[in-house]
Amino acid sequence: MAKSRTTRLLQAPDDLAEAAALLRRGGLVAFPTETVYGLGADATQGTAVAGIYDAKGRPSFNPLIAHVADLAAAQREGLFNDKALTLARAFWPGPLTLVVPVAPSCSVSSLARAGLDSIGLRVPSHPVALALLRSFEHPIAAPSANRSGHVSPTLAAHVLADLTGRIDAVIEGGATEVGVESTIISCLDNRLRLLRPGAVTRAQVEALLGETLLDADGDALIAPGMMQSHYAPNASVLLNATQGAASAALLDFGGQLAAEPCLMRIDLSPSRDLSEAAAHLFDALRQLDAVGAQQIRVAPIPSEGLGEAIMDRLARAAAPR
Ligand code: TXA
Ligand code: MG
Repeated sequence: MAKSRTTRLLQAPDDLAEAAALLRRGGLVAFPTETVYGLGADATQGTAVAGIYDAKGRPSFNPLIAHVADLAAAQREGLFNDKALTLARAFWPGPLTLVVPVAPSCSVSSLARAGLDSIGLRVPSHPVALALLRSFEHPIAAPSANRSGHVSPTLAAHVLADLTGRIDAVIEGGATEVGVESTIISCLDNRLRLLRPGAVTRAQVEALLGETLLDADGDALIAPGMMQSHYAPNASVLLNATQGAASAALLDFGGQLAAEPCLMRIDLSPSRDLSEAAAHLFDALRQLDAVGAQQIRVAPIPSEGLGEAIMDRLARAAAPR
């Protein structure tokens, strides 16, 4: 059972010093990033990190992303080879997480790393996240700020719906801009692997490095948190639907299902803009799930660019469980 806490809604920038003080005391503070809201704790305090798993109701200790203020701070925690450095310089601050070998000077608790000798590091670009990291001056361990198995929060209201009474505070930062979690690339050796697609696209990374990204598939490790049911709504999810049903909720794209029968229909982007669709994805899934439909039917969505991340999350939501 998670320890019961009074959850406060903090306002940026006025309450950032208070948020940092809560973190120093081992508290749990959810904060906005440009991808999704994160549930933060002082990454160097194992007991604070344990509180994250407790609050989320996570079944196991998955490795958490350590958020830092800049590349210099990241290099105190992890060892960057040339390719990792190139990626960090090109895309940080931004929606990219790099998995690198742990540095000897690493301050992040082994619990946050789930005992691995690698670490996931990210410099977010959201001004509130950056301001918090600068004022706190230590790495902040943060998974997405949702109950285990729920979709990631893109609004402070989503965080409150999932975690009120289980965390100390959430910093209000409005709707997150990207809407899906960061791209994760493993840089453990010279063969880079795409562990999770996101807003930094496969094509962008391949163009920058002049090489093909390998997939995570078949690797023994790697990202235990990537299990398929991770993003599951209560309703079953049907992909590539071309027909509605009176009892179904519809997740549309570009008006393809506009004339179909349904309980409720949400169009991720009437103009077929994949960035807009990603930004609306998790809120739309929550809303459609809330009408109590047995099934959410999803219109076909192209899987190039940011569409790869959208289809990845929808495929997980649709996976049998
Ligand atoms: O956008 C995001 O990435 C958000 C914001 C809050 O930063 N965070 C997020 O965290 O989505 P989470 O815990 O829901 O997903 C992090 C993923 C997990 O699948 C985890 O297994 C993987 O990162 N990960 C973290 N450290 C790793 C490591 N050392 N090796 C392999 N995978 C790792
Ligand atoms: Mg998550």
